[in-house]
Amino acid sequence: MQRFTKIIAAAAGLAVVGAFGMALAQGDPIANRKANFKMMADAMKATKAVIDAGGPTAKAVPEAEKIVQVARVNPGHFPTGSDKGDTKALPEIWTNKADFEKKFANLEAEGAKLVMAAQGGDAKALGAQFGKVGGACKACHDVYRGK
Ligand code: HEC
Repeated sequence: MQRFTKIIAAAAGLAVVGAFGMALAQGDPIANRKANFKMMADAMKATKAVIDAGGPTAKAVPEAEKIVQVARVNPGHFPTGSDKGDTKALPEIWTNKADFEKKFANLEAEGAKLVMAAQGGDAKALGAQFGKVGGACKACHDVYRGK
């Protein structure tokens, strides 16, 4: 029950960041996007744990949904000028904005398939799709995230 409450709380927090994304983006887009990326990394870890345990895959549904949500809202947390400060975002993001956003769209599509795989009940299929989602993370980090 405690676990369940935590997931709800995390999802609610994400909804707030999404809903007020524009207003918050004026204040601290860097902190917002980093918090969302961290949540997404936690969702990946939780999904991996379900795969390693061989299921039940339904436990990964809310985690996969968080990945889709972050892929949707995080492009809004990269306004012009937010390459300065406590950030590893590379300047190429703003010179190749269309490609950068395409990579988020690709993550959203792979994330949606992860939700479906989690609903499907087959831990092996979930594992295969998990690999594709990880590839979508890496495809962006390799080009747009500094060390
Ligand atoms: C379209 C590009 C893109 C995609 C896709 C993407 N990331 Fe990132 N990620 C970034 C950028 C850019 C940063 C650096 C943000 C900053 O420092 O301002 C980052 C930073 C991070 C961070 C560090 C956050 C911090 O606190 O400094 C984590 C963790 C992370 N990403 C995880 C993921 C995971 C997991 C996925 C896939 C499920 C993913 N990212 C997909 C671009 C992306």
